[in-house]
Amino acid sequence: MQFFIDTANLNDIQEAYDLGVLDGVTTNPSLMAKEGITGDDNIRAHYKAICDIVDDNVSAEVIATDFDGIMKEGRQLAKLDDKIVVKVPMIKEGVKAIKAFYEEGIRTNCTLIFSAGQAILAAKAGASYVSPFIGRLDDVSTDGLSLIEQIVQIYDNYGFETEILAASVRHTMHLIQCAEIGADVATCPLNVITGLLKHPLTDQGLAKFLADHKKLNG
Ligand code: G3P
Repeated sequence: MQFFIDTANLNDIQEAYDLGVLDGVTTNPSLMAKEGITGDDNIRAHYKAICDIVDDNVSAEVIATDFDGIMKEGRQLAKLDDKIVVKVPMIKEGVKAIKAFYEEGIRTNCTLIFSAGQAILAAKAGASYVSPFIGRLDDVSTDGLSLIEQIVQIYDNYGFETEILAASVRHTMHLIQCAEIGADVATCPLNVITGLLKHPLTDQGLAKFLADHKKLNG
């Protein structure tokens, strides 16, 4: 399973990368705005700064919603760095663009996926990744993890190569359950990744080991 971090914060990205378990980064316009990144030049420079930290897989989202606009923006983003994956929303023009990007050899992440039907369309268009938002489904009393299960089964049935990137992952149990179900990737904030480290018995056990060592060795 691959871990992506879902943020545009360079410190968090560096911290996750330094842990040695980070496979990529996902951003979205809200996450960029949260970091106060505005204006095309600054936005592009920020994507470049993210690419300079990680080894691959930096999802950069288009703002345009018409085919020509998505293609223009996506090509510009892809030119920034080979690590860029163009993030395209699940809309009709987006599906057309994903197909065209596929034919141009540009990797895509189809975002805002909330149904199995949308995931089928994205895969048929040739998306490299599909991003079902499990937390936002849970927010409206719909089981987000069931959607991941459905997509895993459908993609297995037909050998779709699109990778399932579980997004809107809010806590460690989401992440663990995504792993059990077989999501290819989970993207989540830093606290969810570092949350996996924690167990009180680990802390107690280490404190005892160190205390016992100190008794005899000072
Ligand atoms: O990448 C987008 C997705 O992860 C958003 O998460 O927590 O805003 O629903 P959230």
